[in-house]
Amino acid sequence: MKDKGINLLKSYKDFDCEIVTDLSRENLLLKLPEFDGITLRRGKIDREILSKCDKLKVIARHGVGYDSVDTKCLKEKGITLLVAHNSTSTSPAEHIMFMIMNIYKGVSMFDTMVRNGDFVKAIHLNIEQNFELFDKTVLIAGFGRIGKKLIKKCLGFDMKVLVFDPYVDDVTIASFGGVKITTLEEGLKKADILSLSLPLNNETKNFITLKEMKLMKKSSIIINAARGGVINEDDLIDALNDKKILGAGLDVIDIESSSFNNIKKEINSYFNELKNLKNVIITPHIAGWTFESNVKLSQIIIDKIETYFK
Ligand SMILES: NC(=O)c1ccc[n+]([C@@H]2O[C@H](COP(=O)([O-])OP(=O)(O)OC[C@H]3O[C@@H](n4cnc5c(N)ncnc54)[C@H](O)[C@@H]3O)[C@@H](O)[C@H]2O)c1
Repeated sequence: MKDKGINLLKSYKDFDCEIVTDLSRENLLLKLPEFDGITLRRGKIDREILSKCDKLKVIARHGVGYDSVDTKCLKEKGITLLVAHNSTSTSPAEHIMFMIMNIYKGVSMFDTMVRNGDFVKAIHLNIEQNFELFDKTVLIAGFGRIGKKLIKKCLGFDMKVLVFDPYVDDVTIASFGGVKITTLEEGLKKADILSLSLPLNNETKNFITLKEMKLMKKSSIIINAARGGVINEDDLIDALNDKKILGAGLDVIDIESSSFNNIKKEINSYFNELKNLKNVIITPHIAGWTFESNVKLSQIIIDKIETYFK
């Protein structure tokens, strides 16, 4: 939790609170058994940690996704999970648009070139890889809070929007100005841009593999601001190297699994391969983070904790 939220939490005289910044497993095993409640922003809470937390009554996820917590174990132990629904959909949707525009207009690439003094190289660059958003087709996979915010922004840029979400009906999607796609394959073949806004679970792990990417246009891009495991990243590297797709914008990657703090040395060679690809932009799992979203998120989560303990 950021300062604003921490100060808010401290202002509640009924709570004693402590900030745990060392998110190593060893430290979590040592520290977390002391608490009745945990607000969890970064870090993973697994079965072994939970087995030591006999006092724990509630975990409040400082966000929307909760794949960083062993929910099966929470259920078994009768520990309540609170999440901050309705808090972070504006910021991720704006971040997805930013990533699309960055790739389409080569912003990061040109910025680097100008900083390096490569003006001439930059203006003589082949611009066949710079595109307009106008009339492009976006496929939104996962039409929840983020998907519903994103569609408005896409339509504002005169783009066409297809939606793949088996749990949302065509009338609802049409009421937002989108077209429901019943098979993912159909959407992938038509899309210029695929944006993923679905949860990571057993059903969606490896939702996009090389097989799916081979169906896409060679000029297409993928934006993943959901969770790393939703795309098979070995396959993504292959698809990008083999020019099966044009580019990718990643706010999340599998190895950070809910926080870039978790990138370990031994898997850095994989990360290096990803980051050396010119047609990829990567941000450190901050799609949901803005000044505004952090204040809102903190308030929501603290209100929920207060209500829980009342
Ligand atoms: N990068 C970030 O900072 C950040 C911030 C917020 C959320 N997220 C991630 O984005 C995800 C989506 O967020 P949200 O607030 O829109 O969630 P949400 O729960 O409102 O919406 C998720 C949607 O995905 C759909 N879905 C589930 N399984 C699907 C499948 N197999 N195929 C297609 N659609 C499927 C659901 O029907 C639902 O409409 C979260 O689960 C979280 O992991 C990331």
